[in-house]
Amino acid sequence: IETGAGCSELAGYRVLITAGGTREPIDPVRYISNRSSGKMGYALAREALRRGAEVILVTTPTGLPLPEGAEVVHVESADEMYEAVMSRFDAVDVVVKAAAVADYRPAAPAEQKMKKQADRLFLELVRTPDILAELGRRKERQVLVGFAAETNDLETYALDKLRRKNVDLMVANDVTQTGAGFGVDTNIVTIFDGRGGKETLKLMAKEEVASRIFDRVIQILSNSCD
Ligand code: CTP
Ligand code: CA
Repeated sequence: IETGAGCSELAGYRVLITAGGTREPIDPVRYISNRSSGKMGYALAREALRRGAEVILVTTPTGLPLPEGAEVVHVESADEMYEAVMSRFDAVDVVVKAAAVADYRPAAPAEQKMKKQADRLFLELVRTPDILAELGRRKERQVLVGFAAETNDLETYALDKLRRKNVDLMVANDVTQTGAGFGVDTNIVTIFDGRGGKETLKLMAKEEVASRIFDRVIQILSNSCD
């Protein structure tokens, strides 16, 4: 593990990061997903490794190179991600939920490939478990970081999610802004904390956003390396 500039402020900590958009099966060959690229989550994993953490990366298929040194857990659906995260929660110190988890999944995925029939098809969807909210209910010592990608009323929604899910930090971005959100290598985020704090960051590389997020996590863990 490489620890840049001799700083190993996350040495001895276990950090679990989720990345990518979940895939909710319709039938064996089709799924419902979203525009998440996984880039923010992978940048977070690299940054946590650089700071000396033991990293578990729970990821959907993204096509991105796997961060060297991370324990990688491959999942596809929200249900699989839920299992992967819950079964490891007691053993970790920090969870960063950068994944874009589907809110609904097809109620009953077909066992065989669906054949086209009528002109219209209605697909019944049911809610997936809210992984972050469940972590918020179960958390003891863990630091929890959530993400909120919004198109409008960013602050209202982000603060509502921060409180409802009982997280320590909520990283919010307006995905309608150029240079923010899905697919790109940069992001424009505001970090809200549980004490009413609000830190607005300018446009920066996702690597740098990851670094700023871990600066805040480390403050909460009260672990500085200088
Ligand atoms: N999240 C999760 N499990 C879900 C849905 C969301 O863990 N089933 C997490 C995401 O990983 C993210 C945070 O919750 O860290 C906020 O996700 P978001 O989609 O913005 O919030 P929702 O509560 O799903 O609200 P909505 O989509 O209605 O805005
Ligand atoms: Ca959602």
